[in-house]
Amino acid sequence: MSLAKRLHAVVHPAHDTGFDRRRSVSYDRMSRWALRGLYRRVAEDVAAVAPESATILDVGTGPGRLLHELADRRPDVTLTGVDPSPHMIQVAERTATSRSLGHRVRFQIADVANLPHPDGSVDVLVSTLSLHHWPDLPAAATQLARVLRPGGHLMIYDFRLAPLGAALVALRSQDVFAATEVTRTPVRAGWYPVTPFARVSASSAQA
Ligand SMILES: C[S@@+](CC[C@H](N)C(=O)[O-])C[C@H]1O[C@@H](n2cnc3c(N)ncnc32)[C@H](O)[C@@H]1O
Repeated sequence: MSLAKRLHAVVHPAHDTGFDRRRSVSYDRMSRWALRGLYRRVAEDVAAVAPESATILDVGTGPGRLLHELADRRPDVTLTGVDPSPHMIQVAERTATSRSLGHRVRFQIADVANLPHPDGSVDVLVSTLSLHHWPDLPAAATQLARVLRPGGHLMIYDFRLAPLGAALVALRSQDVFAATEVTRTPVRAGWYPVTPFARVSASSAQA
């Protein structure tokens, strides 16, 4: 089995259920060490493009560990994480409070296909290892394009085996991305000797 497949199996011991309480707690225990290198790498990428006082939204935030890394790097930004699993949100809120970050990050129960954010309200949309759970990529792309501010950035990271090609097609069909490049690039992060991750990124058209 390739390293990418093995890493995916560690992150997802089972693929059939949502993140209930037990899986949410065990995912948090695993991810805080196994995925810290990825969170750091992504936080650096996001911190580099986010404008002053940016609004940053992490879609499928899980335990919210990426937002901790961002809070450390960018004290000026507003950080929100959404996830459809109430158990993940509970874990995320608890770990943020335990790290005294409760005042910096906000969590909401929400699905990528139905984001509770106004149109054009987010400067940077980010997501890690969540896209391969999204059942309806066109619906996800429609919502991501809707909430992204003109000139905003979209950065979606997932395993290279995730349906990133379908995500590219769905995003390219959105008007706000029609005049810009939507790209897929391999991502090296942390201690992994190979490159199991990739990023889909785009910037929305300026107003
Ligand atoms: C493997 S975890 C990744 C969590 C976190 N982003 C990380 O990198 O550690 C996948 C997350 O995506 C969430 N998810 C699943 N379906 C989703 C959807 N339709 N919209 C948004 N998030 C979803 C799950 O609840 C879960 O928390």
